[in-house]
Amino acid sequence: MISQGQFSKCNGHIITSFPANQELPWIGTTRPASPVLSQAAMSADAPTAHSIRATVMQTPLPSTLEVLTDQWIGVGRDGRISEMRPTTAADLADITLPSSSVLVPGLIDTHIHAPQWPQRGAGLDVPLERWLQDYTFPLEARFSDTAFAEEVWASLVPSLLAEGTTTATYYSSIHPEATASLAVACQTHGQRAMVGRVAMDHPTNTPEYYRDPSAAAGIDASRASVEAIRAIDEGRGLVSPIITPRFIPACTDDLLRGLGSLAEQTGVRVQTHCSESIWEHGYVLDRFGVTDTEALDDVGLLRNHTVLAHSVHISDRDRDRAIERGAGVAHCPLSNSYFGDGVFPVSEHLNAGLRMGLGTDVAGGPEHSMRASCGHAVTSSRMLEAGVEPGGDQSLRPGQRIDLMTAFWMATLGGAELLGIDAGLLAVGRLFDAVAIDPTSDAAGRFDQLLDIDDDHRRFDRLARGAGSITNVWVDGVMVVRAD
Ligand code: GUN
Ligand code: FE
Repeated sequence: MISQGQFSKCNGHIITSFPANQELPWIGTTRPASPVLSQAAMSADAPTAHSIRATVMQTPLPSTLEVLTDQWIGVGRDGRISEMRPTTAADLADITLPSSSVLVPGLIDTHIHAPQWPQRGAGLDVPLERWLQDYTFPLEARFSDTAFAEEVWASLVPSLLAEGTTTATYYSSIHPEATASLAVACQTHGQRAMVGRVAMDHPTNTPEYYRDPSAAAGIDASRASVEAIRAIDEGRGLVSPIITPRFIPACTDDLLRGLGSLAEQTGVRVQTHCSESIWEHGYVLDRFGVTDTEALDDVGLLRNHTVLAHSVHISDRDRDRAIERGAGVAHCPLSNSYFGDGVFPVSEHLNAGLRMGLGTDVAGGPEHSMRASCGHAVTSSRMLEAGVEPGGDQSLRPGQRIDLMTAFWMATLGGAELLGIDAGLLAVGRLFDAVAIDPTSDAAGRFDQLLDIDDDHRRFDRLARGAGSITNVWVDGVMVVRAD
């Protein structure tokens, strides 16, 4: 790392003596001050608190790459982009990224189980229904110990930020204390997050040691958790609650209905698993005589910005119902390979207008990198299109493949639209959640010879798959990761 500058710490903010328009080493800061006190920041009502000069790559639409060379990006005290335009000779930026680096919108993981972090990569040898009983419920039950939970969150949240996940839509456990401490960890480390206390009360499908004792208790605890998370956020808008019935098999009818009413009363978003596997989809059909999507709608849980994880087995009618309500899917391609019993047809559902983001589903998905997830989304779509039988009929599902730009769109703007947040794209008025990637340094050694590629699309393909080290991450205008 470059280190010719003079740094001094002042009120917790690192200030540099570099001339403002020179290439700078990374500068860390915490809210509310700007990383460097620029002229603009000196004036209390200045719209721009700090500025960054960088080349931007982003996907404003599926299959669309936008490359904006040498941009001057002003970031306001509200964490939003106040100005963004090509740099001129007269511009002074507080931070100038090296010309080889690229700035992309922050990555949005629309489905991840925080308490499953310790079992990443283990125990995927059995189907979903056994995996839950044998491995996952016993692990999640340990989060009654808040000290244990805090230890896990202290590893999880910074690890995700370092991988460029600026927003995470978390399932926590059933425990209100552990859930509140997850919200605090996100707030402390500066990650945008939706945090959901898991509700589950079914007397036969969940173990006695790990469930809400009754529907009423589950609804009360969910309401209290919504209030607690709102209090932790203090109106800042960084961390918000999300109502989280685990999935229909884990919930009684009363709990599902009560959570639907809670969503209506509070206006809080909803997340759940939907038509994930053949077993799960069939269970709901047997119990209600309708699909997951219809059953969720009937109890008031299919709402604007409801996040339906997986949805591998939804019908076209389900999809249309979800579109009508403003709900959408968290596509979890790697997890679906283990538990989904099929490939979610991204292309078909996107073309129909369904909202869609990308999720890692840690730990049903054994990798937490959203850039790796982009690659998995492309891979599974290719297998859907070509089929998996050697010598099989390859014309059965034409047009299913997606490209990396579409996967990256899901990982950024698609996820933001699913959640209803102004992130996922770098443009004036939007939140400055962003990731700087240095293609010349590849800490994980995933791809060599990146510098040999000067074509923007091919460079982007590699970056979106995980090439190049993430050097800086900003959330809400604040630099929260600085590699040095
Ligand atoms: N369905 C219900 N709970 C879970 C979970 O924890 N992970 C996954 N992938 N599916 C679920
Ligand atoms: Fe999941």
